Amino acid sequence: MTTTVESPTSAWITGPILGIETSCDETAASVLAADGAILSNIITSQHAVHQRFGGVVPELASRAHIESIEVVSAEALQKAGLAWTDLTGIAVTQGPGLAGALLVGVNYAKALAYVLNIPLVGVSHLEGHIASAWLQDPAFPLPCVVLVVSGGHTHLYYKEPSGHCRLLGSTRDDAAGEAFDKGAQLLGLEYPGGPAIDSLARQGNPEAIAFPRSYLKRGSLEFSFSGLKTALLYKLQAMTEQSRTAQAADLAAGYQEAIVAVLVEKSFAAVRSSGARALAVVGGVSANSRLRALLQQRATSESLHLSLPPLAYCTDNAAMIAAAGRQALRAGLRASLDIDAQASLASSFAHAL
Ligand code: KG4
Ligand code: ZN
Repeated sequence: MTTTVESPTSAWITGPILGIETSCDETAASVLAADGAILSNIITSQHAVHQRFGGVVPELASRAHIESIEVVSAEALQKAGLAWTDLTGIAVTQGPGLAGALLVGVNYAKALAYVLNIPLVGVSHLEGHIASAWLQDPAFPLPCVVLVVSGGHTHLYYKEPSGHCRLLGSTRDDAAGEAFDKGAQLLGLEYPGGPAIDSLARQGNPEAIAFPRSYLKRGSLEFSFSGLKTALLYKLQAMTEQSRTAQAADLAAGYQEAIVAVLVEKSFAAVRSSGARALAVVGGVSANSRLRALLQQRATSESLHLSLPPLAYCTDNAAMIAAAGRQALRAGLRASLDIDAQASLASSFAHAL
């Protein structure tokens, strides 16, 4: 149950805030100064734990979070040059994500808030990703279109001048990150698949092997990536082992191009139809080098503002959770100590940004 409530009497947060993120396979903690400056951003990845299974194993993720949460949080404090008692607020990812993984962060945050007697706020992981667009560029303009592209989401939003986010379109099946991960698995690449395809594709020709680009019906701002994965499977089945190896880079480049071309096209279509003059692209897939290059070219040629967070803030991190939480805390929102993890917080928002 979410029990974040307004409490105007304690609306003012005057000092540093700790953000905690444990929704999937990264244990992360970050401290933001009162003015929003990032004082530390510590991330421990569990990729080595999950690699041999080809994906995240929820039970192993929870255990690894338990082992890391204290160390990662203490390091975030130390890097920031602060003591626990300097903290004036805590923000934690409440959902969406793996239930057991979220619980580790939520319970740790609740215990800290209780012991330190400071306010706590639960943050949607999606709100966190969206907030990452303003981490390095606090003056990035509103209204804007935001594309959240991660392992679990492919969502296009219109963010109004008030900060409220309106959903314009999302994926009907796989998320873009999922398409990268599943494609990489078919290609025999390591988990996580996105970075693996990204680096192999650099040696390939994106036009050498054609893949279907799913634009759906004219003007649609929805996405669909499951057909692409099937197309890759059929191509691989029709090839010999030798040609699969010889053409691995072209396959990766063509497959990647089919994902990023659609992401770019639909993002700019959303900008055009909404009348916004700014686009932010956030989430793990926004680390993709080809996507970044195409977005930058297009934004320059259309004279649009583009926010692409630095790589450390694209994939899961706690600075983005602290940033979203800071806004919530400053707006007077508080969670009581009985908040729970919400695995399917989905595309809803714990509170307006
Ligand atoms: O935001 P994130 O760290 O976690 C979720 O909220 O899901 O995103 C993880 C996703 C994974 O699917 C991963 O393969 C993808 O982001 N990803 C990439 C790249 N780096 C991470 N996809 C394409 N190219 C990359 N360089
Ligand atoms: Zn994420």
